[in-house]
Amino acid sequence: MILVTGATGNVGSELVSALAEAGEQVRALTRNPSAAALLPPGVEPVAGDLNRPQSLADALAGVSGIFLLPGYQDMPGLLAEARQAGVKRVVLLSGGSAALADLDNAVSRYMTLSERAVRESGLSWTFLRPRSFMSNALRWRPQLAVGDEVRVPFPSVRTAAIDPYDIAAVAVPALLTDDHDGRIHELTGPESLLPADQVAVLAKVLGRDLHSHGLTDAEAREDMSRTMPAEYVDAFFSFFVDGTLDESSTHPTVRDVTGREPRTFEQWARAHAGEFAVPA
Ligand SMILES: NC(=O)c1ccc[n+]([C@@H]2O[C@H](COP(=O)([O-])OP(=O)(O)OC[C@H]3O[C@@H](n4cnc5c(N)ncnc54)[C@H](OP(=O)(O)O)[C@@H]3O)[C@@H](O)[C@H]2O)c1
Repeated sequence: MILVTGATGNVGSELVSALAEAGEQVRALTRNPSAAALLPPGVEPVAGDLNRPQSLADALAGVSGIFLLPGYQDMPGLLAEARQAGVKRVVLLSGGSAALADLDNAVSRYMTLSERAVRESGLSWTFLRPRSFMSNALRWRPQLAVGDEVRVPFPSVRTAAIDPYDIAAVAVPALLTDDHDGRIHELTGPESLLPADQVAVLAKVLGRDLHSHGLTDAEAREDMSRTMPAEYVDAFFSFFVDGTLDESSTHPTVRDVTGREPRTFEQWARAHAGEFAVPA
């Protein structure tokens, strides 16, 4: 039995589908009882709160491997519960900024401390360090619902963004075999794009006359402060304005692990075009 945390999210939902299609027994953690109806047939929903390790007893029973999201309040406690329940392996969804091990940066800090807790847990582990998700473009939905302009922060910063589908594709063998134990996978898509390039691809796929408006740093700070805590805004400014994190390089990991090329942003956009028809 594999436990997928974040099972209703961008990566977890892809992983639940991939594992179910592979015929594996899958348990999907969610705090939302109505989400169960959206799971593929045969997938077992289970309630639990990652911030409260004691709430995970039902979720962990009989589980051999966990796909785990980072950054919850008591990662060592959560992992101790898992080990006590008999779990053998954890595949952690981390991020590129874990490599910085910068405890003064709120994002790097939670990635770093989550990886550290997993290393110290005594479980077999694999770390997935994806770059920015292609699904971050779904954040543009409210703007696309009211017009054709997309306001983009950090307009001159290229990212080799990855499709959550490909993160899940790498997670599957990491969960089911011991081939990936102790390995850190740097995960990117196949190309390095500017935000304006992504908007242009989306315009083509949606058949709309979209254009991007690059925000100044002051505008970006104001926009981002509406949706995230100040320490996260500071973290992203450190990454992309001060240049402490370079997400522009591509890595061959998805191809090496899956035997096929990672999906392009256009492929992601075609798969998710329907989600842009509905306001977020
Ligand atoms: N976006 C990026 O570019 C990027 C890059 C690298 C790493 N990451 C990491 O990726 C993760 C987000 O992944 P995603 O985009 O797949 O997720 P998402 O779409 O943002 O969904 C969040 C998921 O987390 C679950 N969740 C949230 N709080 C929870 C709690 N207290 N207990 C149990 N479940 C909880 C939600 O489940 P319910 O609501 O159903 O309970 C949901 O399934 C983050 O941890 C982030 O650090 C993101």
